[in-house]
Amino acid sequence: MSFKEKLIKEKLPKHVAVIMDGNGRWAKKRGKARIFGHKKGVETVHKIVEAAGEIGIEYLTLYAFSTENWNRPKDEVDSLMMLLVSTIKSEFNTLIKNNVRLLTIGNLDDVPKKVNKKIIETVEKTKNNTGLKLIIALSYSSRWEIVNAVKNIGYQIQQNNIMIEDINNELFNKFLTTSQIPDPELLIRTSGEYRLSNFLLWQIAYSELYFTKKLWPEFEKEDFYEAINNFQNRERRFGKTSEQIH
Ligand code: IPE
Ligand code: IPE
Ligand code: MG
Repeated sequence: MSFKEKLIKEKLPKHVAVIMDGNGRWAKKRGKARIFGHKKGVETVHKIVEAAGEIGIEYLTLYAFSTENWNRPKDEVDSLMMLLVSTIKSEFNTLIKNNVRLLTIGNLDDVPKKVNKKIIETVEKTKNNTGLKLIIALSYSSRWEIVNAVKNIGYQIQQNNIMIEDINNELFNKFLTTSQIPDPELLIRTSGEYRLSNFLLWQIAYSELYFTKKLWPEFEKEDFYEAINNFQNRERRFGKTSEQIH
């Protein structure tokens, strides 16, 4: 039986987040330039978006480019930005056909105008789609997001719109870029790295973490379903005892 067939419908995560890692190593293994790996990685994005839609996942967040990734060689950054625009263009019809709504988190002020424009345009054009919400984390980092939230809460206090006593988890959450998005139940990272690389630190406080050695360009639909299967076999206790859960 395939992992897909084994999935329990009632226990699907609403939100899956993915750190798509390993494009560079995948290309290097084949003696190719890193960008070749990124291009292959786009094919995986296509497959995984489809895979998530097929089983009725509501939110899929993909870490596409971190704040720290701006420190890569200019050539690679430029190629990645170009790839982003061409991918949004080439995938647009598929998004519409599959009823996918595109959203982004991250500091879009930092991305080149052309990229910024294309993204805003696509977010707008897909805003009435009612299927999967695909969230691209672009120029995103958790510390950037948290510091920004703190600043904005500070302004609101200065304007007397909120009181220090009002600050709690719920209020803080409203100041994050993910305020309209439930926390991911499952976080997947490919490529055998066991770290979070500044991704959704607040939001994954109680997420289940899944690490796989597969590099992103070789990650298949069945690998995605395997991760969800693994998730479904875990006991989520949220601080309680196992007896309290059952
Ligand atoms: C992930 O693949 C994609 C981005 C960070 C844009 P990498 O480019 O990090 O690939 P590796 O980790 O060098 O193999
Ligand atoms: C994390 O991958 C960011 C993305 C997948 C976009 P990196 O490859 O940049 O992470 P580190 O630097 O190895 O931790
Ligand atoms: Mg990497």
